[in-house]
Amino acid sequence: MKDQVEKLILEVEDFKTTDTNELESFRIRFMGKKGVMNDLFKSFKDVPNDQKKEFGQLLNTLKVKAQEKHTKLKSELSANTNQNTNKPDDLTLPVLNDQLGARHPISLIRNQIIDIFSRIGYTVSEGPEIEDDWHNFTALNFPEEHPARDMQDTFFIDEKHALRTHTSSVQVRVMENNKPPIRTISPGRVFRNEAISARAHCIFHQVEGLYIDKDVSFADLKQTLLYFAREMFGEKTEIRLRPSYFPFTEPSAEVDVSCNICSGKGCNVCKHTGFLEILGCGMVDPNVLENCGIDSSVYSGFAFGMGIERITMLKYQINDLRLFFENDVRFLKQFQSA
Ligand code: PHE
Repeated sequence: MKDQVEKLILEVEDFKTTDTNELESFRIRFMGKKGVMNDLFKSFKDVPNDQKKEFGQLLNTLKVKAQEKHTKLKSELSANTNQNTNKPDDLTLPVLNDQLGARHPISLIRNQIIDIFSRIGYTVSEGPEIEDDWHNFTALNFPEEHPARDMQDTFFIDEKHALRTHTSSVQVRVMENNKPPIRTISPGRVFRNEAISARAHCIFHQVEGLYIDKDVSFADLKQTLLYFAREMFGEKTEIRLRPSYFPFTEPSAEVDVSCNICSGKGCNVCKHTGFLEILGCGMVDPNVLENCGIDSSVYSGFAFGMGIERITMLKYQINDLRLFFENDVRFLKQFQSA
């Protein structure tokens, strides 16, 4: 019995390998549940009592040596495999095709709009997305009972605060803090409690514009919008104004541009009308000027507001608004060269 253990100890000491399979067989033989150790421990009871101590110590030596050998060989083997994968780079391999990023189409169009208006002297103003009732509604002449304040359109945060439903709120802040002449646009995210579909989303982007000075007229508004439409959709573009209503402007209008796909002849996109609606506008209501501390007997002004998604959809012929929010790279990649 003793000889047998001593032989095994020698075997362990002499064991060498560079092969993982052989090392695994070694582990199973010396350390596995059904290995030699198990048999030896079982036969322990047959060892005469006076030899038990010595036999036990031998068994322990065998166990420790087997473990040590296994750990040593294992770490040698894994160091070797690492070395193998650390071969010098193969310089003949083709280079990895790096993905080139693209600007989001909403950013592209927002930047274009900012660029078009900055060329005629408009500054850019920004404001908070969480607004109080005053800046989003009251200062803008929304009557107390106006349906746009209703829970259905507005995400309220508490009784006095909501997510802004338009960036006209920024213009109130600009009027409160600056003296005319004021010429500014406010791009930003807005929020409305709408069911998400191909044509509507609860988050979208707007650019609203404001011009306040002495003797600003509706003709100035019309010409500014014609300039914008031609810069954005091409120099042959025509605009059409239809009377409309907004609490903060009087008179108010909705503006259509001639369809950039059929040049006004009539097609599916413009529903055979030859025109596409792009924005709302009007002369700032004197009540709004007074609410913001501007003397309406001296100053007048106009305002307009458009959805960036809408302009982007028309410009790139995108028919589903949800594409802007899904961030699918197959969609976004198409704007790499834009
Ligand atoms: N604030 C309006 C909207 O959110 C747009 C608008 C702005 C209309 C300025 C007229 C004047 O739809």
